Amino acid sequence: MFIFNTATTANGFLADSHDSLEWLFQVKSEAPDMEPFTRTVSVFVMGSSTYEWLLNTENMLKHPEKWTGFFGERPSYVFTSRDLPAPPGADVRFLNSSVPEALPTITETAGHGTVWVMGGGDLVGQFLDAGALDRIIMTLAPAFLDSGKPLLPRTVYPNRLTLKGARTVGQFVEITYDVVGSSPGA
Ligand SMILES: NC(=O)c1ccc[n+]([C@@H]2O[C@H](COP(=O)([O-])OP(=O)(O)OC[C@H]3O[C@@H](n4cnc5c(N)ncnc54)[C@H](OP(=O)(O)O)[C@@H]3O)[C@@H](O)[C@H]2O)c1
Repeated sequence: MFIFNTATTANGFLADSHDSLEWLFQVKSEAPDMEPFTRTVSVFVMGSSTYEWLLNTENMLKHPEKWTGFFGERPSYVFTSRDLPAPPGADVRFLNSSVPEALPTITETAGHGTVWVMGGGDLVGQFLDAGALDRIIMTLAPAFLDSGKPLLPRTVYPNRLTLKGARTVGQFVEITYDVVGSSPGA
């Protein structure tokens, strides 16, 4: 199962224009517990901006134990056209291909586990375009931005989304949609 699970501003940005998550870190509230979801994940997928943000924020090239502290031994696929470094000992696999080309590899690696498509939004859109997005879990923070990195820059009509749940956790609202087949507007 391919799941996009993310925090977002209330108006649909994953990060500001400088890749900052300050709007998220400033929320003084408990947040949804990610642990039950994270436990189901067998493979992580992300774009290079998300990967570099992780590396830089936690200085993971110098502190690879921080990578393994979060990802464990589980593999991560990073989409990039560049040669990027990886924390020593981390199972990071770089892909420079279309999502349809990469899907068989990712699916085989994931086995019966969840593929967490972490973002950014356009990469998630590439999975959606390829018919490989089953669920969207988005946690809305009480924040708006005038610009930034979009949550999901695609047209997705209601006929493709089924609301599975919504709950409040402190100042956050977590919304879960299942993605169903067919193209926008069909
Ligand atoms: N709020 C949250 O919980 C949350 C969740 C996820 C991400 N984020 C943040 O949101 C921002 C997302 O950044 P972003 O929108 O730039 O997205 P991104 O997906 O993280 O990075 C985009 C880059 O990935 C590479 N890429 C994407 N598709 C590719 C493909 N098919 N083949 C090869 N390379 C490909 C390209 O870079 P190159 O080829 O140049 O390497 C592209 O410019 C980051 O700051 C991240 O930290 C926040």
